Amino acid sequence: MRTPVIAGNWKMHNTVDESLKLVRELKPLVAGVGGVEIVVAPVFTALDAVSAEINDSNIALSSQNVFWEEKGAYTGEIAPGMLKDVGCTYAIIGHSERRQYFNETDETVNKRVKAALKAGLTPIMCVGETLEEREGGKTIEVVSRQVKGGLAGLGSAEIDKMIIAYEPVWAIGTGKTATPEQAEEVHADIRRLVGQIAGAGTAAGIRILYGGSVKPDNVDVLMSQSDIDGALVGGAALQADSFARIVKFETK
Ligand code: 13P
Repeated sequence: MRTPVIAGNWKMHNTVDESLKLVRELKPLVAGVGGVEIVVAPVFTALDAVSAEINDSNIALSSQNVFWEEKGAYTGEIAPGMLKDVGCTYAIIGHSERRQYFNETDETVNKRVKAALKAGLTPIMCVGETLEEREGGKTIEVVSRQVKGGLAGLGSAEIDKMIIAYEPVWAIGTGKTATPEQAEEVHADIRRLVGQIAGAGTAAGIRILYGGSVKPDNVDVLMSQSDIDGALVGGAALQADSFARIVKFETK
């Protein structure tokens, strides 16, 4: 049984006060909801305050990125241990916006994943194709390259601790969700690939989240797919009521 994960990636939104307001609204709406890991990923500056606010709740904390060194002369970067220090238990790694705007590559994703695992953070490693790649029939090729690159050098005991998020770039922030069938097809391929890399047990256990315009009105059908184990939510995570509804998805 794979415990589903619903994670809200707040991206570059919300001051400390706004973050606290959102999480204070969210807490009572999801209190008592079990059988699902609920995660929020605020901006770095709000992590500490949000961490204190969710301390005794069923909501966990994630960063939106992490650097691979433990400390040193790396101006502007944040180490895995520093994220643990403020209460993070997850780290989003390799989001397509980082690949697109900040030169993130499969190699740097791999370094971040390894460093996060070493520090005891659960990596949420993001993969996904662009519209051009999908239209060129390259979806599986691109996603396979990203998965293999991101997992390079890791053993099954480490991959067991990870989460993969499939986020087709063309579905992010566009209102265009992949159809459940389109998403399921890629999720099943990712699971097969994880099986080739790390064995059947790891493939059966790893959580693969879908991201890209997940909303209250499409989460149920997405979550009803056999290889979709959760959602990485952007825009709809910025409103407590819509995120809470996504957390309370119903499968058919
Ligand atoms: P949207 O839900 O706004 O499409 O964003 C998805 C995403 O990128 C989550 O990481």
